[in-house]
Amino acid sequence: MHQVSSPGSIVVLTGAGISKESGLDTFRDHDGLWARVRIEDVATPEGYRRNPQRVQAFYNARRRELSQGSVEPNPAHLALARLEREWPGEVLVVTQNIDDLHERAGTSRLIHMHGELLKVRCERCARPLPWAADIDESSLCPECERTGTLRPHVVWFGEVPLEMDRILAALEKCSLFVSIGTSGHVYPAAGFVTAVREAGRARTVELNLEPSHGASLFHEVRTGPASELVPAFVEETLSSAAQNANL
Ligand code: APR
Repeated sequence: MHQVSSPGSIVVLTGAGISKESGLDTFRDHDGLWARVRIEDVATPEGYRRNPQRVQAFYNARRRELSQGSVEPNPAHLALARLEREWPGEVLVVTQNIDDLHERAGTSRLIHMHGELLKVRCERCARPLPWAADIDESSLCPECERTGTLRPHVVWFGEVPLEMDRILAALEKCSLFVSIGTSGHVYPAAGFVTAVREAGRARTVELNLEPSHGASLFHEVRTGPASELVPAFVEETLSSAAQNANL
């Protein structure tokens, strides 16, 4: 009996670069968000305590852009949804992004490790809730019916990323790790490739507009726009799996 090696599992890490061609800003590109506002003012608990209105306004504008604008998934998001549908093993997308473009493209096995723009969290009852509208001090928590307690369900610098146990378990056992559209500056995501390399079994690939800060840690680096690189990589990965299955 010819033993077909199991197809193995795939973990895909995405960052702001995968959503750039959908019209959403990245953070550290020359025209990125951090070129316009200071991280300390809008993406830290201290900044929120200092001036909650400024932080709410920053996320209200990004929430409006996502929920009311013409922002759509691009071919890179759609290709990852195809990979999940057609790959014979498990695929997990771990995104640093807080937009909902992976979901809207059809990806279902997805972890938002930095939270979600279209959810809010009450600081009293802590439940994340779907929320597409603006938040201000009069916003009422539907759970505990207090006002002034709702904040973006977004992980700020100094806060703990979400579902790290599940992410690290998936990195430990995967046979392919792909990093897409991230600059490799922010941990723990920037350290995932090292965790995979230490597990010693996976191929590691970076797909990015330009080599990231951690590019030298990957077995393979491909540079270009995600909307071109990702569909081509998914096609190649699926057709090589099909060939192996037919051996
Ligand atoms: N296709 C592929 N990659 C792209 C594209 C594109 N069209 N456009 C930009 N990129 C790349 C850039 O070259 C850069 O390496 O995407 C990366 C974006 O990097 P950042 O702006 O640093 O975004 P990201 O890596 O997701 O930031 C990580 O930092 O500020 C925090 O919480 C925030 O989740 C974010 C985290």
